[in-house]
Amino acid sequence: MKPKIFLTRPIPEKALAMMEAECEVDIWHTSEILPPTAERLPGLDGLVTYSHEPVTAEMIASAPNLKVISNVGVGYNHIDAEAARAQGVAVGNTPGVLSETTADTTFAQLLAAARHLVPASIFVQEKRWTCYDPNIFHGFDVHHATLGIIGMGRIGYEVAKRALGFDMRVLYYKRTRREDWEAALGIEYASFDRLLEESDFITLHVPMTEETHHLIGKEEFQKMKPTAILVNIARGPVVDPAALYEALKNGEIARAALDVTDPEPIPMDDPLLTLDNALIFPHLGSSTLQTRTRMATMAAENLLAGLKGEPLPYSVFG
Ligand code: DGY
Repeated sequence: MKPKIFLTRPIPEKALAMMEAECEVDIWHTSEILPPTAERLPGLDGLVTYSHEPVTAEMIASAPNLKVISNVGVGYNHIDAEAARAQGVAVGNTPGVLSETTADTTFAQLLAAARHLVPASIFVQEKRWTCYDPNIFHGFDVHHATLGIIGMGRIGYEVAKRALGFDMRVLYYKRTRREDWEAALGIEYASFDRLLEESDFITLHVPMTEETHHLIGKEEFQKMKPTAILVNIARGPVVDPAALYEALKNGEIARAALDVTDPEPIPMDDPLLTLDNALIFPHLGSSTLQTRTRMATMAAENLLAGLKGEPLPYSVFG
């Protein structure tokens, strides 16, 4: 009998074929979050997840045969990994492979916010462009501005490389200083407060932990420049949404681009959606077909190893 696996979202063809060759595959095709009491959980050997849905201790406990949870994505804060470990369930993720694509998206969103790209395009689509006007959609220069990177891991490193191509001055904040990266890229370590005070653009790349919950809140916005642009491509709860709303509304900062929100999807009555200086995207960080296929393939490798009781090639437990 083939092991039973469940995918909480459809997955690119190449990875699906790898899984179908060895497993009985069931796919959740609705847009709803998998309920913790889902009837299919007790019979599962493997679970393939994406970053949006919680995999709780209760769900893991209800699946006594479960051998592996394979997450298609690097962040795994939505999975109770300790509960999985306690039950002997392996947990895998897909680090590294999405760093460059996520850095590209960071830059795309930074540029979009700086240069009003989304409203300007909507303006033309709405057939409101009736004469050349040199005084519309004035943005902020990105070149030669100061970028502050909070969370200097693989993605932050790639963002810094891109910023250097724009002749930006790059500050970074990280718990453990990387003097080798400073020397290699010509970037500068800054304290958290100095980074907030001196940056024209601030991008967030920290993992979601208790320590990073609402890392950016009222006090942090007060330290930023009134012209600052914040890009959150980490996890929604890293930013306090009420404080962000106030900061954007009261001009404490100029704009924000949010690839992630809390919760996801953002509720349609969320006050942030009423602001024209907040650009909100549907969690697009790693969303190219090439990268999503590479991520899914890594997830398939993790899944198949875990089902056989072998060490995962990319385990969150190191
Ligand atoms: C990740 O890899 O954690 C991304 O957020 C998934 O899209």
